[in-house]
Amino acid sequence: MSQNKKLFIQTIGCQMNDTDSQHIQAELEKHKGYTTTSNMEEADLIIINTCSVREKPVSKLFSEIGQFNKKKKKGAKIGVCGCTASHLGEDIIKRAPYVDFVLGARNISKIKDVVDVKGSVEISIDNDESMYEFSTAKTNQYRASVNISVGCDKKCTYCIVPSTRGEEISIPPEMIVEQVRKSVALGAVEVTLLGQNVNSYGRNFSDGRGKYSFTNLLQDVSKIEGLERIRFTSPHPLHMDDDFIEEFARNPKISKCIHMPLQSGSTKILRAMKRGYTKEWFLNRASKLRALVPNLRITTDIIVAFPGETQENFEDSLDVVNQVEFDQIFNFKYSPRPGTEALNMAHLEIDDEIGSARLIELIELHKRHLEKKMDTYIGQTMNVLIESLKPNGEVCGFTDNLLQVFTKGSDDLLGKFIDIKITDASRTSLKGEVVL
Ligand code: SAH
Ligand code: SF4
Ligand code: F3S
Repeated sequence: MSQNKKLFIQTIGCQMNDTDSQHIQAELEKHKGYTTTSNMEEADLIIINTCSVREKPVSKLFSEIGQFNKKKKKGAKIGVCGCTASHLGEDIIKRAPYVDFVLGARNISKIKDVVDVKGSVEISIDNDESMYEFSTAKTNQYRASVNISVGCDKKCTYCIVPSTRGEEISIPPEMIVEQVRKSVALGAVEVTLLGQNVNSYGRNFSDGRGKYSFTNLLQDVSKIEGLERIRFTSPHPLHMDDDFIEEFARNPKISKCIHMPLQSGSTKILRAMKRGYTKEWFLNRASKLRALVPNLRITTDIIVAFPGETQENFEDSLDVVNQVEFDQIFNFKYSPRPGTEALNMAHLEIDDEIGSARLIELIELHKRHLEKKMDTYIGQTMNVLIESLKPNGEVCGFTDNLLQVFTKGSDDLLGKFIDIKITDASRTSLKGEVVL
């Protein structure tokens, strides 16, 4: 095995892509002798791990790999991995013949097989058991991310993910617990459980075993000694049953920040999106959570200008935003994606200018909420896990409910839970002083 080969990897997309990139890196280190570089021009292998969820990053892909090809070291290879690899497959090599291999989001475990085979394309979305047998991925020293399922069985009509990541399969709980244990042994105190739809966990195991829910998994993972915080993403509002909400509220290890992807506040649009819940169900779940969990932060994803969205339907989204007062919103303008059901509604597509105006209105409303809300933290004392040291002599970390906090300090605070009295707030983070 030749040593000292260098890998440069660029990752776009969701947290699953981040863990996939960590796994690619770990596999290539272990089996092929690569080390990672942040300088593309010195790399022997350049990988771009792609996202297809909206059109923009896909259209940028070819100009980006074109740039890589121009600037790369002589003889360096280029690989395209991830969701765009899954959905464009060999067309990527047809359009950009200098690409050496294409590896789909469901096929990451095959990285060591394709890396040296010019022209290889692996994009099958059939189940692949070896997906779960990864080298231990390196993570931030204090945080680990562990996949609990692959794929997605929902059929949200706007979404390309089920066709890039395939059928939803739950990874056996013992493997997950073992993976979390390993990370804790390496120093992690926090884990994020990842899946496209985490709270439908347990419906479909690779080994066909019987009943075991996401709530059961949370209970088992929280028994791991040395693990202090559990986060997870993304849960689906439809599957937020009472059992789940009560466990969330009761279990002190579960971080009190929850992602509740609304997508739309209009029951009519939710139906057209095939989300499976109504505006009222969403509001009911959010208010049950708020009632049971003091200091809860709720984040969300909202799509504006889905085909057929009237002004009144959009106002339903604003209404939910006003009622729930989300702590963070990821806003998107609807982007038509190949192979999705919403393409059949092309005749109902909303004028781009209207879509942009709605996006701005939503962002402005949320900004007003945040300005009010973030100021209320001033004067409070918060417990923060310090994770990083900044060049300006500040340290930074997160509260249990995922607020980012900065304070003056040095590296002896790293990895510790510290009480900080908040003195200043911006829309996205807090500043404070260590309480001695
Ligand atoms: N499985 C996750 C989401 C994955 S995609 C979940 O259900 O929460 C992340 C976000 O991208 C989605 O929540 C949605 O808001 C957005 N998104 C997905 N497809 C989109 C499209 N075609 N146009 C615009 N936004 C989209
Ligand atoms: Fe896409 Fe819906 Fe699955 Fe999320 S739940 S990945 S939005 S199909
Ligand atoms: Fe993007 Fe694939 Fe994740 S499309 S959002 S990288 S599942």
